[in-house]
Amino acid sequence: MTTRRELILSMATLWLARVASAVEALRLPVRLKRLDELSRALSRHEIAQVDWQDGVESLARGIDLVELCKAADFERVAARLPLLTKGTNAEAIQLLPGQRFTPKIFAMGRGRAIIPHGHVNMVSHHLVLQGALHGRHWERLGDSDEALILRPTIDRTFKPGDSSSISDQRDNVHWFVATSERAYTLDCIVDNLDPSRGYRFHIDFIDPDRARAQPDGTVRAPRLGLDEALRRYG
Ligand SMILES: [Fe+2]
Repeated sequence: MTTRRELILSMATLWLARVASAVEALRLPVRLKRLDELSRALSRHEIAQVDWQDGVESLARGIDLVELCKAADFERVAARLPLLTKGTNAEAIQLLPGQRFTPKIFAMGRGRAIIPHGHVNMVSHHLVLQGALHGRHWERLGDSDEALILRPTIDRTFKPGDSSSISDQRDNVHWFVATSERAYTLDCIVDNLDPSRGYRFHIDFIDPDRARAQPDGTVRAPRLGLDEALRRYG
């Protein structure tokens, strides 16, 4: 017969095993492996783009930035990325051998920006490694030759450890402006989601300052060419 002491011991062992597995799940290598699995599942169309977004955003919550920066060789990469007078500088890195996602470190000085743009045929997740940014997202509700129809979804300050994501299905358009002396983000990208499109991804630049509010609460943001977008917003 199981004694009371044995029962308490086995319950304690079970509890400890659960705690250990929860802690294990939070370790960086486990998070990166899970990110890779999500990215493979997305590429194979086994999960929806919003599932990838939810999964990656939850993996980013509480991530150990010191450990992540070490894994990304952040100091050395940042030293190779002089801050540009317009827009961002960026370098693709490797976080896992054979990774299905593309990690990229973006660097920008105060007032410089990841200029306002929407995406087609890709997902990405952006995590602030250092500095602060004013980040905005919009839902993309429709397109015309001249403009994108948008609904604002996110407008807040992003600090180290904060993240957001885009896809064809949610928060498709974004814009980040560095509000600290320098700011660095780690983006993880999966593109070519629908290979039948014939292009890996497409970017549409917009002009939010000249967007017109519509009676239904949406905004109509005119399209911009890259050079003009960089000149106005970079
Ligand atoms: Fe983007």
